[in-house]
Amino acid sequence: MKVVTNASELPSACAFVPTMGALHAGHASLFTLAKKYSENVVASIFVNPLQFENQEDLAQYPRTPDIDIEIAAAAGVTHLWLPSQSEIYPQGFTKQSAGAMGDIYEGKSRPGHFDGVLTVVRRLFDLVNPKVAIFGEKDFQQLQLIKTIADSVEIITAPTIRESDGVALSSRNIRLSAEGRVAASVIYRALTQATTEDELRAVLASESAFTLDYADFIDETTFTHAQMDTQKVRAVVAGWINGVRLIDNMPMGNRA
Ligand code: PAF
Repeated sequence: MKVVTNASELPSACAFVPTMGALHAGHASLFTLAKKYSENVVASIFVNPLQFENQEDLAQYPRTPDIDIEIAAAAGVTHLWLPSQSEIYPQGFTKQSAGAMGDIYEGKSRPGHFDGVLTVVRRLFDLVNPKVAIFGEKDFQQLQLIKTIADSVEIITAPTIRESDGVALSSRNIRLSAEGRVAASVIYRALTQATTEDELRAVLASESAFTLDYADFIDETTFTHAQMDTQKVRAVVAGWINGVRLIDNMPMGNRA
């Protein structure tokens, strides 16, 4: 694996996995999937300040460079790109707006977050010019929004990777206390047991360590509240344990 600091050193027509580092088995599964699309698998690590509405959250975001290099190499990344702030955001760079869908659910609780995500993804795509890019289903609203700006880049969706108790892998999980980590499994139980929003919220309320932000059934293409005739319904959940924000989702009709 080559570690590069400038996009000019990257191969063209690659399979691309953008990340913010703190890599774990979930990222490794994205790299493995990427290998099916190109012999050149490019991963980027850039902790994007524009998508953190809260400076403390940015400061606390885990950074594990040595482990990241090991995980990326073992999972088949051929080029690990560590761009500088000035390569991603040169003077006068263009900001991208996520529009109305960027202001609801995650966007409501994290104002400006999706504008920041789309701005960096647009910039990363322009610099890498990949054939395909892989994103995890765990950040479902992010995934749907990225599809709206992908243009010529084919977006590949990768399933959420879970621990044995169902907790979705996330770089933020390492900030949970041991008790908080156990409590986090309530989200998976709620998503797999509930057939109505009331049931979803009731299961979540049974765990006192969990503070609810939202738990809704939505139309997954529009992120509006699901109606009786909605074709693709997805349950989306967000909340906090130990002050750590956790999100997860599951299609309703296709549940584990
Ligand atoms: O999902 C992430 O890790 C980030 O939001 C992304 C897509 C790498 C953009 O910074």
